[in-house]
Amino acid sequence: RTVYVNGSYLPEDQASVSIFDRGFLMADGVYEVTSVLDGKLIDFAGHARRLQRSLSELDIENPLSDDEWLTIHRELVRLNDIDQGMIYLQVTRGAPGDRDFAFPDPAVTKPTVVLFTQNKPGLADTPMAQKGLKVISIEDIRWGRRDIKTVQLLYPSMGKMMAKKAGADDAWMTEDGFVTEGTSNNAYIVKGGRIITRHLGNEILHGITRAAVLKFAAEAQMEVEERSFTLAEAADADEAFITSASMFVMPVVELDGAAIGTGKPGPVATRLREIYLDESR
Ligand code: PDD
Repeated sequence: RTVYVNGSYLPEDQASVSIFDRGFLMADGVYEVTSVLDGKLIDFAGHARRLQRSLSELDIENPLSDDEWLTIHRELVRLNDIDQGMIYLQVTRGAPGDRDFAFPDPAVTKPTVVLFTQNKPGLADTPMAQKGLKVISIEDIRWGRRDIKTVQLLYPSMGKMMAKKAGADDAWMTEDGFVTEGTSNNAYIVKGGRIITRHLGNEILHGITRAAVLKFAAEAQMEVEERSFTLAEAADADEAFITSASMFVMPVVELDGAAIGTGKPGPVATRLREIYLDESR
C-alpha cells in the first residue's frame, strides 16, 4: 500500500511519525473517513467541510487547502487502485519534541498529516445489509464534544468489544435514557412511517452520511423527525438503521437481544440504502 505522510507518498513500511506526536501521546488530533465507490469519492466536500470545523474547534490550523486534500485523496485511490473502500485521513497537532499539556507554538510545531486507503471489495454489496445488525445498549460516557471528530476512540472501541462479547455487532450509546449514536455511526428508528434520528448538537457527530440520507428521505417524501428518542421507543419501533461513511445505510434488526419490528431489515432502511447507493454512484 502507498500511504501519504507529511507531503510524501511512501510505501506503508517506510512511513513514520514521531514518538512525540500529540496524536499518539494525547489523542490530540482529528480524522475523517471518506468512502470510495467505483473508484469515486463519496461526499468529499462534506468531509472536507467537517474536517475544517473539527480543526477550528481545536485551534489547529488546516495544513492544506480543500483542493490539495482532494488531490491527495484522488492520488491515493489511483496509486492503490481502489474500486471500493475507504480513505482514512488524520491531522494531529504535531510533534513538539517533548511532552507538555499546553499546546505547542503553532509557528514552530506543524500539524502531522497521515492518509491511507483501505481496500474493501464488495463493500456496497455486503450480505450484512440483507441480514441487518444486532446492537446492544451501553451508557455513553464519552466527553462532551462528540461533534468534533477526534481520534479519541477508546470508549467506542470498548463498546464494540462489549457488543462482540454479547454476540452483537455494535452498541448504541445512551445518555439520560436517550440514544445518542452508535459507536461509529448515527442511529435511527422508524415508527409509523416516520424516520426519527437525534437532532444535531455537541452530543453526536454530525454525520456526512446522515445529512445526505435526510436530504434523500425528504426528496422521497418520507417524513423525518430530528429529535432524541429513548431505548424504549427503539425497542418498540417498526424498524431501525444506522448510517456512516463505511456502512452507508445499514438496517438494525435487534436491540439488547430482542427483535426490532419483524426482526428483518425494514422497507424504509432498505429503500434508503438503495437510494443512497444509487445517488452516490
Ligand atoms: N465514523 N458517529 C460517530 C461516533 C462516528 O464515528 C461516525 C463515523 C458517524 C457517522 O459519520 P459519517 O456519516 O460522516 O461517516 C457518526 C467513521 C466512519 C469511523 O470512525 O470509521
